[in-house]
Parts: sequence; C-alpha cells; structure tokens
Amino acid sequence: MVKVSFNSALSQKEVKKDDESLIPEEEVDAEAALPVHRQSRTWCWCVCLGMALMLSGVLIAGAYLFRYFTVETDKDSSFLIPEREPVFFCGVNYIEDNYMMRDEEMDVPSSLRELEMTIRILEEEQVEIISVPVPNFEDGDPADIVHDFERRLTAYLDLNLDKCYVIPLNTSTVMPPRDLMELLVNVRAGTYLPQSYLVHEEMVVTERLERVDQLGYFIYNLCRDKETFKLQRRDRILGIQKREALKCRKIRHFENKFVVETQICEP
Ligand SMILES: *[C@@H]1O[C@H](CO)[C@@H](O)[C@H](O)[C@H]1NC(C)=O
Repeated sequence: MVKVSFNSALSQKEVKKDDESLIPEEEVDAEAALPVHRQSRTWCWCVCLGMALMLSGVLIAGAYLFRYFTVETDKDSSFLIPEREPVFFCGVNYIEDNYMMRDEEMDVPSSLRELEMTIRILEEEQVEIISVPVPNFEDGDPADIVHDFERRLTAYLDLNLDKCYVIPLNTSTVMPPRDLMELLVNVRAGTYLPQSYLVHEEMVVTERLERVDQLGYFIYNLCRDKETFKLQRRDRILGIQKREALKCRKIRHFENKFVVETQICEP
C-alpha cells in the first residue's frame, strides 16, 4: 500500500516536472499528460481513503485489544473497581466473648483478638467490598464479601470452599457506605478501630441458586462460575433443632463498630 502511494506520488511529480519543462515544445504531450494527471489524482484519493480506512481499522482493533487486556487483568483481582474509589486497609482489636469458655480461667490478652481486612467503598454504586485474609484463629475461612445496598443483598465467597452464599442485606449489622466511609476515614490516621467486640450470627444453607446474573453486577462478578447457595438466619428457620449437628464454616469480618462472626452451616 505504502509503496503504491509513493510510486504514484513520484510519477505525479515527474509528470508535473515534464509538464513544466516541456510546455513550449510539445503541447500535445501536455494534453496527453492531463488524463494521466487526473488518473493519478483519483489513484491518490483511493490510496488515501484506503490508508484512512486501514488506520481507523488498526485504531479500533487497538482500542478493543486494550479494553480486552485491561478487563482481563482486572478480572484477576476479581472485581472491576473504578480507580477513584478509596481502599481502606484496616484492623480492629476485639474481645472474644466466647461464653463457652467464660467459666474457664483465661487471661485477658489471649481473648483479645486482632482482625485485619481490606475494605473498598463504592459510594455512588452503594456497594461495600470486603476482603478477609486467612484469619489468625482456628477454623475460620478467608473470604470476599459484597454488600450491595441497591440490591439489598449480601454475598459471601468462602475462598477455602470456593462457594458463594447469598442472603438479604441486614442493615442493622452493616453500616451504609457513607457512614462506614466516615468511620474508616476517622480512624485512618490510627489504622486501628477502637477496641471492639464480637457478635455471632448463624446462617443455614437453604437452596442452591442456579443463576447469579439477576443479583446485580458486583455479586455476579463475585459468584459467577461458583457454586452459589441461598442462606437464611438459623433463628428464623423452624424445625432445625438447636443441637442438630451441622457442618459450619466461620467468617469473621467487620463493616460496623463491631466484629461479626458469620457461621455458614450446611444441613
Ligand atoms: C439483623 O441482625 C441482627 C443482629 O444480628 C438480628 O438481631 C436481626 O434479626 C437481623 N435482621 C434480619 C432481618 O435478619
């Protein structure tokens, strides 16, 4: 393509030069050169148009490739999060109020636990995204959690089991994005929240969800390609005996002034 345009441009120039130098002598030649000139001009237009089309093609393909790759790399970090959103890495010290062990003699330091998490708050989208690392207490699981205030849903992705659990958002345990942001900004300087306490909640798997594409963008991103289940609070389910043995996993997290231990149990 490039070669052609170069040639045509050159021949055009040559023709022009010929025109100028030969005008007095051979007018017939100049007349003959006229259609050639016109032809080369249309040629030039064709080439230019072709080049423009090719260039736009390359640009569009480039844009697509760029998008594809950025989306791919973002996928690795499991969420598509706008850069402008603040990310908080913060920890909390809390008292382990395990009433089963309260009778036993325990020194205070051993019941004082520490929990660290990464919290992303998307205020515009009304979403909180929480990453719980591998916890430093026994039988707890690392997890990714999404609280979607617009959809009024919470989803837990248990990273040990690679399973997703969805339950209606409990607004009395989860602070709304604006309030949580305020709380975290206020403690940011000190990194740690004021000393806190532990709240227990127990959830039971009720049914398998076949599709997660109706659960909003963020939960879809968290749970797609994972086995996903619906949860219900255990105290709301009749017919399950308190003492009935269930297989339970624990996730400890905080999105309020206290730490919540969510037990997810399979009957
Ligand atoms: C929300 O959580 C609180 C504290 O764990 C609990 O008492 C309440 O029943 C929950 N509400 C719903 C709707 O599940």
